[in-house]
Amino acid sequence: MACFFRRQIAAKLATTLQQSEEVFLPALTAVPVLKKQQQNADFRLLLGPLRTNGILPSSGDIELQTEHLASQLKPDSVLEDISTRRGVINFTVNRRLLAEKLLEPFGSGADEQFGFNSELLSSLKRGTTLVEYSSPNIAKKFHAGHLRSTIIGNFIANLKQSLGNNVIRMNYLGDWGMQFGLLGAGFDRFGCMEKLKENPLQHLFEVYVKVNKEAEHNEDIKQAARDFFSQLERHESQALSLWQQFREITVKEYQQVYERLGVRFDVYSGESFHQDQVPEVLQELRDRGLLKTSEKGTGIIDLSPGGDMTNVCTILRSDGTTLYITRDIAAAINRMEKYGFDEMIYVTDKSQENHFNQLFQILRATGRSWAQSCRHVPFGLVQGMKTRSGDVVFLEDVLDEARTRMLHNMKQSSNTKELENPEDTAEKVGISALIVQDFKGPLQSDYKFDWDRMLQAQGDTGVFLQYTHARLCSLLQVNEGVEVSTFNADLLRENTSVLILQHLLRYDELLYQSANDLQPTHLVNFLLKLCHLISSAHRELPVKGSPQDVAQARLRLFSGARAVLARGMKILGLKPVHKM
Ligand code: ARG
Repeated sequence: MACFFRRQIAAKLATTLQQSEEVFLPALTAVPVLKKQQQNADFRLLLGPLRTNGILPSSGDIELQTEHLASQLKPDSVLEDISTRRGVINFTVNRRLLAEKLLEPFGSGADEQFGFNSELLSSLKRGTTLVEYSSPNIAKKFHAGHLRSTIIGNFIANLKQSLGNNVIRMNYLGDWGMQFGLLGAGFDRFGCMEKLKENPLQHLFEVYVKVNKEAEHNEDIKQAARDFFSQLERHESQALSLWQQFREITVKEYQQVYERLGVRFDVYSGESFHQDQVPEVLQELRDRGLLKTSEKGTGIIDLSPGGDMTNVCTILRSDGTTLYITRDIAAAINRMEKYGFDEMIYVTDKSQENHFNQLFQILRATGRSWAQSCRHVPFGLVQGMKTRSGDVVFLEDVLDEARTRMLHNMKQSSNTKELENPEDTAEKVGISALIVQDFKGPLQSDYKFDWDRMLQAQGDTGVFLQYTHARLCSLLQVNEGVEVSTFNADLLRENTSVLILQHLLRYDELLYQSANDLQPTHLVNFLLKLCHLISSAHRELPVKGSPQDVAQARLRLFSGARAVLARGMKILGLKPVHKM
């Protein structure tokens, strides 16, 4: 595999320069496959970094240095060719070995581990990772930001798990606050138990919208809402039991919709959970001299470096009630006690960046060094996420629309196969389209939601990934009888084969990068590129009509490509289909 070759090159450099192998690994990368062209070199060594960290003298002409070093490195049976460009040494691996090493894992059942047991990844820290994502607010709209948080968080959790971490998937519901006062008061007037049971999300939302409108000009309702919320805060049983019903019913509904998305949670926590822990936290903040009372009577923490009140965080209202951040402080402390995590990741839109900075700062100020292991992954806004019936209010609406539109496209296409359950396939493929559109760029960027573009079968879409996977499955199925447990690696020398192999060579580097910056774009673009290469391979490397040994070698290549594609898709949160 890739690390075998990296080791070989590093060993050669180590003996030549009398250094340990390790120092060369960071300067050594697989060459990305860019255009569909003949590409010779597989790896490159950059001299720049070696000069910066003192492995090579930083004085002197880099061009001469490159030539000199390269001339000392003699080709051998593994590294067939060594060439240079200013500041870069290129290595070309023996073609037979390239195919043999890379396709080795795909003869046995261990095929989906490809890339993950790389030496490169073994340097990553492993432990318990808590990922908090989705976190919608009960009775309110499930907006595009919640959808993004759901799929991004799911990707991060999948990735972390694949890398060998113990992952805790947490949903932190907006299930406390004044909105429940309104909801309680509203349910009294406009609520209906039957409707709640029938279509809970819809009904709660309706009641909430109605009561908000009413409260604008109706003092009685406002008072009733305050009363209801204070009953909740005092844990009065009647109010609490209604609240509990709202919450339970909502979670049950959500679970079903998450299931369609392939998303699950180990824990449904929420803002309500930490209400009781708040007093203790406030006491500690006071004891440490961090929490002060402002002139307006609010509870504040001064986070400005000079203590000049230029960065103040309010954590108590003047009436003594808590805020969003207050509950987050208590929640974080509680999670540490409960799960002893090694890292915690929060996934929300970028408008909450300041909130999380303040949260982490407050935790650090209380001497909790683990605050360094908390991380916020921010993402940009989605513009124009609409369905045929208008603005999106519920997650279900988006998923239904994705399915309907995809089903329609499938019916139109002459390529569509006879399917047992077309709705199910349309759903999986439609959701893939949604996810890939979202993951294509850097998470921080905003983007425009576009049904037509995301559902195109050609072009860089989730549909294209699914289509390629299905086509590979059918190729492998048709040729089920061909033995691929052994193959002749000398028969994979065509340009198209080599490009696929070279592309696979980069997989572990990309996983490493993703593990650090948690951006799905690397994996998405890697898989899209892989699918383009596979398309060429379908044209240029026919299996049908080829001699047995050639067919065997090609099928081994296709089966390797399929395994990498399938695993990568699953990490992104896609459910690979076998037929479409
Ligand atoms: N419920 C919040 C919202 O809809 C997101 C919660 C994010 N997580 C947190 N620990 N504050 O904006």
